[in-house]
Amino acid sequence: MNKTWWKEAVIYQIYPRSFMDSNGDGIGDLKGITSKLDYLKTLGVDVLWLSPVYKSPNDDNGYDISNYQDIMDEFGTLEDFDEMLREAHARGLKIVMDLVVNHTSDEHAWFMESRSSKDNPYRDYYIWREGKEDGSAPNNWGACFGGSAWEYDNATDMYYLHLFSKKQPDLNWDNEKVRNAVFDMMNWWCQKGIDGFRMDVISMISKVPGLPDGPATDSGYGDFGPYSVHGPHVHEYLKEMNEKVLSKYDIMTVGETAGVTIEQAVKYAGEDSHELNMVFQFEHVEADGKYGKWTDEKVPLPLLKETLSKWQTSLYGKAWNSLFWDNHDQPRAVSRFGDDRPEYRAVSAKMLATCLHMMQGTPYIYQGEELGMTNYPFTSMDEFRDIESIHAYRDWVESGKLTKEVFWPCLCNKSRDNARTPMQWDDSANGGFTTGTPWIQVNPNYTKINAAAEVNDPDSVFSYYRTLLSLRKQHEIIVYGSYELLLPEDPSIFAYTRTLGNEKLLTVCNFTDQTPDFEIPEEFADAACLISNYKEAAQKLRPYEAYVLKTTL
Ligand code: GLC
Ligand code: CA
Repeated sequence: MNKTWWKEAVIYQIYPRSFMDSNGDGIGDLKGITSKLDYLKTLGVDVLWLSPVYKSPNDDNGYDISNYQDIMDEFGTLEDFDEMLREAHARGLKIVMDLVVNHTSDEHAWFMESRSSKDNPYRDYYIWREGKEDGSAPNNWGACFGGSAWEYDNATDMYYLHLFSKKQPDLNWDNEKVRNAVFDMMNWWCQKGIDGFRMDVISMISKVPGLPDGPATDSGYGDFGPYSVHGPHVHEYLKEMNEKVLSKYDIMTVGETAGVTIEQAVKYAGEDSHELNMVFQFEHVEADGKYGKWTDEKVPLPLLKETLSKWQTSLYGKAWNSLFWDNHDQPRAVSRFGDDRPEYRAVSAKMLATCLHMMQGTPYIYQGEELGMTNYPFTSMDEFRDIESIHAYRDWVESGKLTKEVFWPCLCNKSRDNARTPMQWDDSANGGFTTGTPWIQVNPNYTKINAAAEVNDPDSVFSYYRTLLSLRKQHEIIVYGSYELLLPEDPSIFAYTRTLGNEKLLTVCNFTDQTPDFEIPEEFADAACLISNYKEAAQKLRPYEAYVLKTTL
């Protein structure tokens, strides 16, 4: 296995809108990020991935881009970007950009041209089709944020495809001009000195010709998955991107590939596939849906272990894993996989961190995870900002499919807005995020859970993350060791070993508030403890206890 910097790095994801507001307009911005680089350096991460900062009308908070080579008004200017990049590099921090090229905004110049007439040179930049004879949409596909994936456009009496909102028309990757325009734009950013790309829904860029109807789903629409996820030319287009852009720079790439299988992941991110460096798989965060993605239940631990372990062992030596509990599309890790009741919040957040950061792959920390930030206590629909949550309420409750009583806990549990409430910097108004009115509510628990309270507290979740990150720098086995799951059926304990040469690690995590027995394997009898979330040793595991032992064989 080749050794590279991005295999040894820890990535920190910033959702700029909610990270730090420098000018009191209630919206996080680039200068805000620059002002917090020292904080991130203290934490010990290596790379910052920024959710989109490009010009955007914000139908989907920046994942709808109207100009790839400019900055969103609310976030600042290209000069602010250059300053942030310089300041980050001066601290040894790398910057990875979000690349959203499955679709643009409908306000992108390409789309405005494209929709204007059938013979416009940009017409084929997007996917236009005639309606059916009765005037209905060209096929039955449903969009990710509800409704049909087709929008009728008056100007030319045709429909355009949008797998997400109708303000996010899909680009036509089969058009060579589209590919080259995207590659030119990527080269422009690379020449600015950025350090990589996280590629938004990159597995969806190639659609099966003919765009056949998809299998029926609960929503009443057809599933586009079989015809536009891992489509016929996706690997060819990524190889072309690799040749024309990625291979020319020392950068890292990670693809967002929902629904990816092991076989597909090896194609996208194989050691010599010449496509991407790694992909995000979502099996462990998609194992729990009841109504589509919505549910109020937890994933049973054996299933969680089986899923994560499958990726650990199957990719080993073939492709690289990316490790995450949460991101801007997922609820908060501690609320979802741990226990956010006050007495268990910190200890279970540390347990989850241990479990993830000792696995094989590149770990990602989502902003606020390092503080043990929790889900938001929603009480009414007007607290939601996310297009997905708002549409889901409309599609499931207002349509009469489910009662509010049934759907509400599911929505609160899974809403992407849980991750999007502002970073909690200190116990001043709005958690120190803004001096103005925040664009989305700050979680009221900021008075207790905030960076200022944690940075200098040796027992905090933050300090625990620091220790975990420094261990990764000291022990190669954490990065490169092979993985083996212990006790697969155990409903409370997640335990596994890592092995490299004559070294072996044992990670033990109690995922419950109970005190299950765990017998330490013989070979670890004299092992040293690298880290633990409880102070002194004990016979039984305590609630949410986690520790890591290291031995030499
Ligand atoms: C990805 C992003 C998500 C966005 C969607 C459409 O899944 O992570 O936030 O809404 O793509 O761009
Ligand atoms: Ca601002």
